[in-house]
Amino acid sequence: MSSSTVITNIATLVTNDPSLGDTSPLGLIRDAAVVIDGDRVAWTGESRKAPATDNRVDAAGRTVLPGFVDSHSHLVFAGDRTEEFNARMSGRGYTAGGIRTTVAATRAASDAELGRTLTRYLGEALRQGTTTMETKSGYGLTAADEARALRLAAAHTDEVTYLGAHIVAPEFADDPAAYVALVTGEMLDACAPHARWIDVFCEKGAFDGDQARAVLTAGRAKGLHPRIHANQLSHGPGVQLAVELDAASADHCTHLTDADVDALAHSRTVATLLPGAEFSTRAEWPDARRLLDAGVTVALSTDCNPGSSFTSSVPFCIALAVRDMCMTPDEAVWSATAGGAAALRRTDIGRLTPGAYADLTLLDAPSHVHLAYRPGVPLVSGVWRRGERVV
Ligand code: NIG
Ligand code: FE
Repeated sequence: MSSSTVITNIATLVTNDPSLGDTSPLGLIRDAAVVIDGDRVAWTGESRKAPATDNRVDAAGRTVLPGFVDSHSHLVFAGDRTEEFNARMSGRGYTAGGIRTTVAATRAASDAELGRTLTRYLGEALRQGTTTMETKSGYGLTAADEARALRLAAAHTDEVTYLGAHIVAPEFADDPAAYVALVTGEMLDACAPHARWIDVFCEKGAFDGDQARAVLTAGRAKGLHPRIHANQLSHGPGVQLAVELDAASADHCTHLTDADVDALAHSRTVATLLPGAEFSTRAEWPDARRLLDAGVTVALSTDCNPGSSFTSSVPFCIALAVRDMCMTPDEAVWSATAGGAAALRRTDIGRLTPGAYADLTLLDAPSHVHLAYRPGVPLVSGVWRRGERVV
């Protein structure tokens, strides 16, 4: 029999269910309690009405929100790109080519080394309140190295993405068509059993629209669902392609036309914004306000990777999104929880409603607004994953 726990005396409970509490998208309940039974949420409501349970935790006036859903990261890698970051902060620009440095280091690393790095950053993220993390291959670029990356990732998360089309592998520099044939053929066959998603970096210096369409449709034929790195460094066809193929998410979305925004607004495709990348490449911010005002569903994630965004901190990304991308604190918190779940087409995470997984973050603050109001402060003082207290 599973045991039940009530967390009482919660100053602000974020449920992300507008039918609960204050009827806002965050479904806020003040002076609240939440009951966990086994790995699921069993009840939410006012503290004084909480049912009896086996165990009791006093939140002492702190905030509880759904664990963050980080729907975009690249954690299977080796090596370091400090020098590249230093050069950028001295004025050099970011290009897709830096990925090659990490490919060389990752190919040379042992499984054990890659596994240690992966668990290190997953642990770092968990301590900052992230209870679900998608992660990708993309630093192997051979059939064996990509399959190895996905096998390692799948040991730690269900949300695994095959990104053999990150850049053209160095061995194929003179024959990109042959590399696309590998990615959509032998490499896909080796990778599909370990992944849920297929992704492609649609960008100058990586893959054009036709190549990206070939990659995503081949993956779809093998049962993988599309998502796409789109419109990050320049305007391109990625967002339109995402909508055409009903991709779960178009990620980055920094350079958009009105037609791109309109296409997203009339689709199921989520726009995932990754402000850690703009921060770490000193690039212009994506226009979150424009997307939200058009009715686009927006997710907020870290893009954690050693090149363009070496942060595992969703709270940091929330603070950036509020300060520099004109999101309200409520919108940013929604995008980092329910938005991330939407970008992964999940309804069992990113919300605290009966039946959802009991993935909860306890903040040492009277409300979720403090995530942006107190930037850089480690407010996460407890994390439950699948009903178990892990932090
Ligand atoms: O999302 N855009 C492509 N991929 C990563 C960068 C990877 C790297 O620079 O190593 C990104 O920013
Ligand atoms: Fe990325």
